Amino acid sequence: MARLIVHTAKRPYRHVTEKGEEVWICMCGLSETYPICSGKHRVVARESDQEVLMYDQECKPIGQAAGIQPELLVKLKRV
Ligand code: FES
Repeated sequence: MARLIVHTAKRPYRHVTEKGEEVWICMCGLSETYPICSGKHRVVARESDQEVLMYDQECKPIGQAAGIQPELLVKLKRV
Protein backbone atom coordinates (compact mmCIF):
# COMPACT_ATOMS: atom_id res chain seq x y z
CA MET A 1 0.00 0.00 0.00
CA ALA A 2 1.17 3.51 -0.74
CA ARG A 3 0.02 6.76 0.73
CA LEU A 4 0.15 10.32 -0.49
CA ILE A 5 0.98 13.02 2.03
CA VAL A 6 0.51 16.66 1.09
CA HIS A 7 2.80 19.35 2.47
CA THR A 8 2.05 22.99 1.70
CA ALA A 9 4.73 24.68 3.81
CA LYS A 10 7.74 26.16 2.06
CA ARG A 11 9.93 26.78 5.07
CA PRO A 12 10.81 25.18 8.41
CA TYR A 13 9.29 25.80 11.82
CA ARG A 14 11.63 27.29 14.43
CA HIS A 15 11.48 25.59 17.82
CA VAL A 16 13.49 26.61 20.89
CA THR A 17 14.10 23.83 23.40
CA GLU A 18 13.95 24.23 27.19
CA LYS A 19 17.74 24.49 27.10
CA GLY A 20 17.50 27.41 24.69
CA GLU A 21 18.70 25.43 21.68
CA GLU A 22 17.22 26.41 18.34
CA VAL A 23 15.86 23.52 16.25
CA TRP A 24 14.40 23.88 12.78
CA ILE A 25 11.61 21.38 12.08
CA CYS A 26 10.97 20.37 8.47
CA MET A 27 7.52 21.40 7.31
CA CYS A 28 8.04 20.88 3.57
CA GLY A 29 8.45 17.10 3.83
CA LEU A 30 11.59 16.86 1.70
CA SER A 31 14.29 16.85 4.36
CA GLU A 32 16.90 14.08 4.22
CA THR A 33 17.14 14.39 8.00
CA TYR A 34 13.39 14.51 8.70
CA PRO A 35 12.02 15.74 11.08
CA ILE A 36 14.94 18.14 11.20
CA CYS A 37 15.24 20.62 8.32
CA SER A 38 18.10 19.90 5.93
CA GLY A 39 17.62 22.95 3.72
CA LYS A 40 15.82 21.03 0.94
CA HIS A 41 12.86 23.41 1.28
CA ARG A 42 14.73 25.64 -1.16
CA VAL A 43 13.49 23.22 -3.84
CA VAL A 44 9.87 24.22 -3.20
CA ALA A 45 10.43 27.95 -2.66
CA ARG A 46 9.32 28.86 -6.16
CA GLU A 47 6.39 26.45 -6.40
CA SER A 48 3.12 27.90 -7.53
CA ASP A 49 0.15 27.55 -5.19
CA GLN A 50 -1.87 26.65 -8.29
CA GLU A 51 -0.34 23.21 -8.75
CA VAL A 52 0.31 20.12 -6.66
CA LEU A 53 3.67 18.56 -7.46
CA MET A 54 5.15 15.19 -6.62
CA TYR A 55 8.85 14.64 -5.90
CA ASP A 56 11.06 11.59 -6.05
CA GLN A 57 13.39 10.51 -3.24
CA GLU A 58 16.10 12.79 -4.58
CA CYS A 59 13.76 15.80 -4.34
CA LYS A 60 13.36 16.14 -8.08
CA PRO A 61 9.88 17.06 -9.29
CA ILE A 62 8.35 14.15 -11.21
CA GLY A 63 5.08 15.73 -12.22
CA GLN A 64 1.75 16.99 -11.02
CA ALA A 65 -0.37 14.93 -8.67
CA ALA A 66 -3.37 13.79 -10.69
CA GLY A 67 -6.78 14.22 -9.14
CA ILE A 68 -5.75 16.71 -6.46
CA GLN A 69 -7.23 20.13 -6.98
CA PRO A 70 -5.18 23.01 -5.52
CA GLU A 71 -8.42 24.67 -4.43
CA LEU A 72 -8.97 21.86 -1.92
CA LEU A 73 -5.65 22.63 -0.25
CA VAL A 74 -6.70 26.09 0.88
CA LYS A 75 -8.48 24.43 3.79
CA LEU A 76 -5.14 23.27 5.14
CA LYS A 77 -3.26 25.48 7.51
CA ARG A 78 -0.39 27.19 5.76
CA VAL A 79 2.83 27.81 7.67
S1 FES B 1 11.53 22.72 5.73
FE1 FES B 1 11.82 20.83 4.83
S2 FES B 1 13.92 20.73 4.46
FE2 FES B 1 13.64 22.63 5.39
